[in-house]
Amino acid sequence: MIRFDCDYLEGAHPKVLKKIVETNYEQTAGYSRDEYTSSAIKKIKKLCKREDIDVHILVSGTQTNFTVISSALKSYQAVICTDSAHINVHETGAVESLGNKIIAVKNNEGKLSSKQVEKIVAQHYDQDSPEHTVMPKLVFITLPTEYGTNYTKKEIEDIYNVCKKNDMYLYIDGARLGYGLVAKDTDIKISDLPNMCDAFYIGGTKQGALFGEAVVLVNNDLKKDFRYFIKQRGGLLAKGRLLGIQFDTLLDKDLYFTISKHAVELALRIKEAFINAGFKLKYNSFTNQQFVILPNEVFEKLNKEFALYKWEKEDSKNVVARVCTSWATTEENVNKLIEKIQKL
Ligand SMILES: Cc1ncc(COP(=O)(O)O)c(C=O)c1O
Repeated sequence: MIRFDCDYLEGAHPKVLKKIVETNYEQTAGYSRDEYTSSAIKKIKKLCKREDIDVHILVSGTQTNFTVISSALKSYQAVICTDSAHINVHETGAVESLGNKIIAVKNNEGKLSSKQVEKIVAQHYDQDSPEHTVMPKLVFITLPTEYGTNYTKKEIEDIYNVCKKNDMYLYIDGARLGYGLVAKDTDIKISDLPNMCDAFYIGGTKQGALFGEAVVLVNNDLKKDFRYFIKQRGGLLAKGRLLGIQFDTLLDKDLYFTISKHAVELALRIKEAFINAGFKLKYNSFTNQQFVILPNEVFEKLNKEFALYKWEKEDSKNVVARVCTSWATTEENVNKLIEKIQKL
């Protein structure tokens, strides 16, 4: 079985593993106080062209999201996100379990708009007793979105401006940030991000690391005591150097973006093959995740040889299949899938 159902099917990029093995017997300080983590942080500051950001490397995406969000909010404050946002549907209520309500609004191809944020803020403050309802305080978006679509710089800047005007934070989930930033449907560079949000993370787990997500805190309010929050939420890894080594390696000589481009190029070849074979796309994605509408029997047939992810039912006769590539996907396997698609 050849798998295309997600982008965390493989271990880690060989350079990451090599570095972990090479440094195996070195003794370093624990809890991310080691020199590999310091070097990774230096590289992130250089990439972001900002020395005044704080960087912390956590273990997983869910942990990163609930740690950042719960540390930013008081108990009566809420998060605004789309109904499709990972924190709203796929994180087992982690944010709510820590006491903060999520206000979810209808997504447009996975995206949230500044107008939607403005509307929620207006609804909250234009009433006699705002304090009887939760206060919107943080906006959560994902770059690229759950559906592989991207935001433009202007779209995020517009959201950020609404946030600033209303004393709110903007936090960007970058679980697949590399795959998003190398795609042709965005004009955002990594160095733009600190100027257009209060916090974001650079995803590692889906992008060549065994595990790890690097959080960048821009707003000074969020920086204070963040290590206390990480520790309390179980995210301060004793052998934190493993996180540092991985990011230090991935961010060396542009490896992170080179492997992202590889995944995106292969995903676009698969997308084209589906279009040429007459299938419709659910979302027009230019990143490593593609969403194709397939008749149920075609999905079943393909799935005998190639694992695709049954994302959702389109209607009684069709499903939406998610097809992912990753840093590790081979051309050989993509060619096999394309041959199969051509024969459908
Ligand atoms: C956009 C996004 N954020 C966060 C996560 C959560 O990551 P994890 O499974 O490492 O907790 C995922 C996982 O698929 C994701 O797609």
